[in-house]
Amino acid sequence: MLEKVNVLKLRKMKENNEAVAWVTAYDFPFAYAAEQARVDMILVGDSGGMVQLGYETTNPVTMDEMIMMAKAARRGAPNTFMIGDMPQGSYEVSNEEAVKNALRFIKEAGCDAVKLEGGKRVHDRVKSIVDAGILAMGHLGLTPQSTSSFGGYKVQGKTRSSFLNIQDDSISLVGAGVFSILLEAMPTEPAGAIARGMTPVPVYGIGAGSLVDGQLVIMHDLMGFYQAFRPWFAKCYIPEVCPKFSAIMEKYKDLKSFGREGRKDGLLELAEMAIRQYVYDVKNGIFPSKEYCYPLKEEEMYDMKGRLE
Ligand code: KIV
Repeated sequence: MLEKVNVLKLRKMKENNEAVAWVTAYDFPFAYAAEQARVDMILVGDSGGMVQLGYETTNPVTMDEMIMMAKAARRGAPNTFMIGDMPQGSYEVSNEEAVKNALRFIKEAGCDAVKLEGGKRVHDRVKSIVDAGILAMGHLGLTPQSTSSFGGYKVQGKTRSSFLNIQDDSISLVGAGVFSILLEAMPTEPAGAIARGMTPVPVYGIGAGSLVDGQLVIMHDLMGFYQAFRPWFAKCYIPEVCPKFSAIMEKYKDLKSFGREGRKDGLLELAEMAIRQYVYDVKNGIFPSKEYCYPLKEEEMYDMKGRLE
């Protein structure tokens, strides 16, 4: 049986500079493929509202929809550390509501932890969840539930004041007891400064460069399985693994010689290969390469000088 990561292992991995490779999943087959490909963690993100359920944004997603997706993902990946993403409306009203909804992820869906967006403003919510004995991950940088307050999907942490805000937020989240923080859509240097400098807990990134403690990717971006858009920090692995997949399929020419269970000749196998390649690339520092990182202009670096070292 696979050994699930836990907070101690995640901390050790940070100490040893061992990158954590994780993906989102919202259903049984992709969660299954992710576990077979040996990802360290799975996020059942509220992005599932868009890529899986077809909403235009993540805002309409309900707790019941999140629980349904998390339960299906859990059935596909019973032995992988799984994080349930608290959707908009599930934690804003009160500490009690936040704890009640976080507990649903743990008790109904079998998640190991929850994630919520925001820094100082959710300090009390995070603390209440942690005090209830639930592992909580923070989410800073571009937080999709509040894109309207950022004026759209905008890269964060590029200016000194934006960087200092994110830094203060991460300190607040650590004070509230998060076991880790996820940074979204930030240039490499400010994200790395937060991961390397002032934050004792692991700091992961999605579009936050190569200096953080691990990488997350949206499953549907990795697969090229979403029609509306793909952020340019996300790499679709299908073109890379297709030739290898075709070569292996040569073996399967005589399909009848394989039993029903032996037929690994379709989308599930291709998905597993793509995720496996992504995990390999993250673990070996190959992903994200420069082309998948947000650049910071020299004058912007100068603007932040003193805080980045
Ligand atoms: O919902 C999600 O998948 C997320 C990622 C975008 C970080 O929160």
